[in-house]
Amino acid sequence: MTTEAATEVAFTPVGSVTDLTRGEGRAYAVDGAQVAVFLLGDGTVRATAAVCPHRGGPIADGQSDDTKVMCPLHQYAYSFADGACNDPSIGTLPVYPARVVDGTIEVAVGS
Ligand code: FES
Repeated sequence: MTTEAATEVAFTPVGSVTDLTRGEGRAYAVDGAQVAVFLLGDGTVRATAAVCPHRGGPIADGQSDDTKVMCPLHQYAYSFADGACNDPSIGTLPVYPARVVDGTIEVAVGS
């Protein structure tokens, strides 16, 4: 008998991947949370909180590449891998599981 229960991540469809442009984020409301979604060069997506932990800047409006997004207000950069800021004193930007299924972006914010 196993004592570990598999944790199922609940993904929510948020829109079409064709609505995204590489290097530009897009904000969505997902299960009561505001998220920013970014398209990478390999066709995968990354999702973060839409509000910057520094002073509330709009993360979806920031410049991004395949590894990070830079907040447009004060240019702090956050890693897509773990949300870490280039200045550790600022804190971490929440990141969420995200995927593309049959052209639809899906994000999980509740896990
Ligand atoms: S509000 Fe985002 S870096 Fe300052």
